[in-house]
Amino acid sequence: MLAKVFSAAVNGIEVNEVVVEIDCSPGLPEFRLVGLPDAAVKESIDRVKAAIRNSGLDFPPRKITVNLAPADIRKEGPSFDLPIAAAVLAATGQVPAEALDEYLILGELALDGGVRGVSGILPAVMQLCKIKKKALVPMENAREAAIVEDMEIYGINTLSDLKDILLGLPKTPVPPPKEWLTEFTGADFGMDMSDVKGQAAARRAMEVAAAGGHNIMLIGPPGSGKTMLARRLATILPPLTREEALETTTIYSVSGQLLGGRSFITSRQFRAPHHTISAAGMAGGGTYPKPGEVSLAHNGVLFLDEFPEFRREVLEILRQPLEDQVVAISRANSRMTYPASFMLVAAMNPCPCGYAGDSRKQCRCSPQEIARYMHKLSGPLLDRIDLHVDVPRLSEDELTDTRPAESSAAIRERVVRARGRQLERFRGTKVWCNARMTPAMLKSVPIEDSASGLLRESVGKLSLSARAYDRVLKMALTIADLEGKDVINTNHIAEAVNYRNLDRKYF
Ligand SMILES: Nc1ncnc2c1ncn2[C@@H]1O[C@H](COP(=O)(O)OP(=O)(O)O)[C@@H](O)[C@H]1O
Ligand SMILES: [Mg+2]
Repeated sequence: MLAKVFSAAVNGIEVNEVVVEIDCSPGLPEFRLVGLPDAAVKESIDRVKAAIRNSGLDFPPRKITVNLAPADIRKEGPSFDLPIAAAVLAATGQVPAEALDEYLILGELALDGGVRGVSGILPAVMQLCKIKKKALVPMENAREAAIVEDMEIYGINTLSDLKDILLGLPKTPVPPPKEWLTEFTGADFGMDMSDVKGQAAARRAMEVAAAGGHNIMLIGPPGSGKTMLARRLATILPPLTREEALETTTIYSVSGQLLGGRSFITSRQFRAPHHTISAAGMAGGGTYPKPGEVSLAHNGVLFLDEFPEFRREVLEILRQPLEDQVVAISRANSRMTYPASFMLVAAMNPCPCGYAGDSRKQCRCSPQEIARYMHKLSGPLLDRIDLHVDVPRLSEDELTDTRPAESSAAIRERVVRARGRQLERFRGTKVWCNARMTPAMLKSVPIEDSASGLLRESVGKLSLSARAYDRVLKMALTIADLEGKDVINTNHIAEAVNYRNLDRKYF
């Protein structure tokens, strides 16, 4: 007897429909899997057999052939267990074969017949809801899948649950999660900008960075509050839009990070990988390629503390996502891309010992040592960091000041207003903040003649690259947006140029 089950192959964030076909005929007992399955999929055979028997169902001694079609699509991981088991049950007459037509089925089986969560459920459901209207997924993935509006989701715990549903026993679909449907207000990050004393200039720079989506580098001696400031960037960014939340949740879904508790992402992510991270950890990769830190930070913040300590090749990886908002991962015989649109926050000491330019402590580094240290930052990468900001040691007065500083909520309000102006400006395009403007868009930026003159003059003095020139102009526009001004004036340019600190001091 023949049976067919509709399932999906998820490679990266790309989804392809897969049909599990099964033929069950008399003959020497055999259970064969064809259609380019990888090792983990081949192991399905053993899991399916054990799960069916241990669920008190019948696994008849027949000649069974399973085909995963189309054959030319890569099929990986354990998510074909459940559709294969469903096909066996149908082909052996234990559930009606027609019942299978309605469903998309995905899930891993345990030997005892329990159903385990798998990665990539969200993109599978999101993309295949055009074809099927119901899905049978592991209970652990049910809430994640239920954020897709167009499909009825049934969460199942065991193979017996699956059998019951296919036999037509009444079961209610999992409702869309309340937390998903209510407005995202920006999460409780457990920290606030009001914790940060003094550092008026750095706080202002953080606000400008957040308001235009610009990358920022904090430079200062140990203990001045660089890490503290950076960790609070997500608290002053606008809340995620639902579309952004879907994108970020998709990445966490395929990286297998939605299993065990967390079902979806509704706040901007803050990623702070250690400087010993490998290239694959940063970009993504592995035998079953998982998204790297640049993608896990998608629509959020990537924080690189002790920036010059990162390996050169790891820093170079950042260039592509900083330019194109995607990262490409090469595999043995294919390539895939993941979204990687993040705000970069970097922090570093001004020299190897950390105290160059400090008001109290003497720096022990030679000029050559400082030059070597700064040289680790390649020009092209630095060019892509818009704001370079000094974070000096706090004065005694600042340290002992007990007045609370301005809260994240107050700053975020101004940021949201400035971003609102940008959304208006870029309506109908794919751009959503000043930092992402195309060179063509920059040509029509409204700027006073005197401001234009100041910009040309400053660029000459600092010998800025063409890219840095563009970035100064974008920052100036953000500063104007924060002020609610439509035209860039000399003040805006002066402040923006001021943020090219490193160009001025070291290059
Ligand atoms: N501006 C500040 N306001 C309040 N506390 C601060 C400030 N700067 C530093 N601190 C205190 O010093 C600690 C170290 O700060 P941190 O941000 O790690 O410094 P850095 O990263 O510059 O070395 C913080 O945990 C905090 O307790
Ligand atoms: Mg630090």
